[in-house]
Amino acid sequence: MSGFQTIDQISVAHKIVLLRADLNVPMKDGAVSDDARLTRLLPTLRDLSNAKAKIIILSHFGRPDRQRNEKYTLRPVAAALQKIWGHPVAFADDCIGDTAKNAIAALPEGQILVLENTRFHAGEETNDKAFAKQLAELGDVYVNDAFSTAHRAHASTEALAHLLPSAAGRLMQAELTALEKALSNPAHPVAALVGGSKISTKLDLLENLVTKTDILVLGGGMANTFLAAQGINVGKSLYEADMLDTARAIAIRATEKNCRIVLPTDVVVAPKLQADIDTQNVPVTAIPADQMALDVGTQSAQDICELLKTCKTVVWNGPLGAFEFAPFDHATVTVAQAVAALTKQGKILSVAGGGDTVAALTHAGVTDDFSYVSTAGGAFLEWMEGKTLPGVAALMRG
Ligand code: 3PG
Repeated sequence: MSGFQTIDQISVAHKIVLLRADLNVPMKDGAVSDDARLTRLLPTLRDLSNAKAKIIILSHFGRPDRQRNEKYTLRPVAAALQKIWGHPVAFADDCIGDTAKNAIAALPEGQILVLENTRFHAGEETNDKAFAKQLAELGDVYVNDAFSTAHRAHASTEALAHLLPSAAGRLMQAELTALEKALSNPAHPVAALVGGSKISTKLDLLENLVTKTDILVLGGGMANTFLAAQGINVGKSLYEADMLDTARAIAIRATEKNCRIVLPTDVVVAPKLQADIDTQNVPVTAIPADQMALDVGTQSAQDICELLKTCKTVVWNGPLGAFEFAPFDHATVTVAQAVAALTKQGKILSVAGGGDTVAALTHAGVTDDFSYVSTAGGAFLEWMEGKTLPGVAALMRG
């Protein structure tokens, strides 16, 4: 990957390294309920620790409204990281000032210190230079491993990168390398699978994808809007009546750019969204007036799997149906397993990301079989929209 330095190119040995990580992990009853973002930090932590650096972790947690709020303390996350790391992880009650400085002074080389939530200070979210300077004072070099926060131009993700020698950590490096292979410089044909309920939240994404991909497979509620835009009666299905012109415009743009939009030809319908309810599989042209489409149909799921066999790159964001409620998980699981199998056979490169997508792939039991599954939600979406991520741009040199 070009354009930014990695920790192989800056000197980290025996240095105080300010490591921007994303410790914004889901919690349930006071405990971390999904530790993927923590385990994915391990390669960077190992390399920095082996270099005898003092590892000072900076992160936000939740949205504490620019002030101290104990509900959003990073203390329990530091404890979870200690379990995963298997060695002591120290914690300091503030991310700037004497509290942070004293904790850093007391930290042995090669060990980890987590500083309290950066969002407890107003300057974090305003990307305030003075606050970034207070952070910079604490260390010798800056390493950013928080791709999943790179869409935020905050002091610890953006301003700080300009104040110290900076580099991407292993996770950031892996994310950017995978994403570059998937959309910036991919092997064609490229297919994008996009699901989710609304076009309105994924407009920029669809507009960018029709210019970058050869095939755009649409599922979820947004497919209903595209079907309705073709004059198909979608019954009680969720669709956006005010987005029909937009859907038509995207379809025209796709044709101009030689991108084939693939919509379901059959769907699974039910009177309402409820687990284990009676369902029917019907052609999209025969959706009963009192029923709603809740999943891509069995024939369409099969057709998508066949189509993907002709591709070399697959990017996925958003489930194809209401996968949280069986049996409306069928298309998502079938297609996810097909992508996983093609990846294992070395036939395609597959990259997936976005909150719901990772949950859907976990449900299908295939997260380990994709070429790359991003830790990012919003940042992955903005990257798919073709936007420059401030936290990535700040690492770029020259
Ligand atoms: C995320 O979970 O997507 C990141 O940590 C960013 O969090 P935010 O949306 O609160 O900025």
